[in-house]
Amino acid sequence: MSNVPETAVDSGPGGPHGESVIEVADLVVRYGAATALQGVSFSVGPGEAVALVGPNGAGKSTLVNALSGIVRPASGTIRIRGRLAHVPEGRQLFGELSVEDNLLIGAWGRSDRDPAPVYAVLPELRGLARRKAAALSGGQQQMVAIGRALMARPDVIAVDELSLGLAPKVVTGLAAHLRALNAERGTAVLLIEQNARLAFDLCSRAYVLEAGRMVVSGACEELARSNEVARAYLGGGTGEEP
Ligand SMILES: Nc1ncnc2c1ncn2[C@@H]1O[C@H](COP(=O)(O)OP(=O)(O)OP(=O)(O)O)[C@@H](O)[C@H]1O
Ligand SMILES: [Mg+2]
Repeated sequence: MSNVPETAVDSGPGGPHGESVIEVADLVVRYGAATALQGVSFSVGPGEAVALVGPNGAGKSTLVNALSGIVRPASGTIRIRGRLAHVPEGRQLFGELSVEDNLLIGAWGRSDRDPAPVYAVLPELRGLARRKAAALSGGQQQMVAIGRALMARPDVIAVDELSLGLAPKVVTGLAAHLRALNAERGTAVLLIEQNARLAFDLCSRAYVLEAGRMVVSGACEELARSNEVARAYLGGGTGEEP
């Protein structure tokens, strides 16, 4: 299952106060002879919203899949302090099950399986609770996938391709939910997003992954001012004088 409610808890030396919720160092992942991640390091602080952008095949999904234990690294370290929940690329709902049953799967193994807190964050889901997941629109399905991840009461939520296949208006709505979750509940967000403009708008820091390596990182505001990043990921140069 892609959603991982109970990922390894590692308080690390000195305890969890103020330390990164995700800390990855020198991560290498291989698929057979092919190297998908070639020594990747990055971190997400408590309550931070961090974007991960990069072209197709860069290794973004591989990275989150490694975080949630779906792929096993060849070397390097992954530390997750608290709970990580993963909204996988393509949502991966159980189409024949109801929305609410999909949500309950996100709380698998927990004693606390009340969906009410998730309905409070994503009120649209309440009205869809009895509907079959397969019968929903793409945007509704993405909301269910996010809701399922929230059932784990995560300290950090990793969303792989929030906007994939969705109309801009739908994406704006989902992004607002993520923003509120981050701002009001302090849930850290790792956002993988083809639309770098949206990602930079939602997040304070970003990393750029290309061909399995982190090539640039920094504050989104600064990255957006860099012509190189703007040209590659924001659809043209900044148009501003340096
Ligand atoms: N299960 C797998 N077996 C073999 N190779 C894989 C597997 N999954 C991914 N790869 C390869 O690893 C590289 C990174 O893939 P990954 O899916 O992590 O990229 P991505 O950045 O998420 O791309 P996209 O933007 O298209 O989702 C690609 O070259 C891909 O073909
Ligand atoms: Mg991917």
